[in-house]
Amino acid sequence: MRPFIVRFGSALVVLAAIARLAAANAAEVGDPARGLVYAKQVCAKCHAVEQGDLFSPEILAPTFEVVAKSEGMTERALYVWLQAGNHESMPNLMIPPGDLDDVVAYIMSLRSANKTH
Ligand code: HEC
Repeated sequence: MRPFIVRFGSALVVLAAIARLAAANAAEVGDPARGLVYAKQVCAKCHAVEQGDLFSPEILAPTFEVVAKSEGMTERALYVWLQAGNHESMPNLMIPPGDLDDVVAYIMSLRSANKTH
């Protein structure tokens, strides 16, 4: 039993190191958790912002899960869209750069979320 526990323990150490690395990489772009907070404050009056939400308050606004999972969606496409003017029916938002990183990270995090519908 002992050797197993020792080996299992070192595997956990390695896993923890990998998780830290992954977290550090993610932190370079934006923080999805902060992005959700921002989205709830600014975007949620029109968009369903949380995973599993099926209907947006503004009927023309796609849910963030649908945005995230749409064909070929990329971070770059979101940055471009969110900084562009002339949307059909969404107002042009001035999103501060840090919040923009966070909200893009949040939306992209929904891309890999489990399908709920
Ligand atoms: C006043 C309502 C309103 C607010 C606030 C709003 N949106 Fe929208 N948004 C819309 C509507 C309506 C559309 C779809 C029509 C269009 O293209 O303008 C849309 C479209 C989008 C799209 C494009 C989806 C696609 O695949 O084409 C993205 C991305 C998006 N919104 C992100 C955001 C984010 C992020 C916020 C908050 C920072 C936000 N929106 C705030 C109404 C809103």
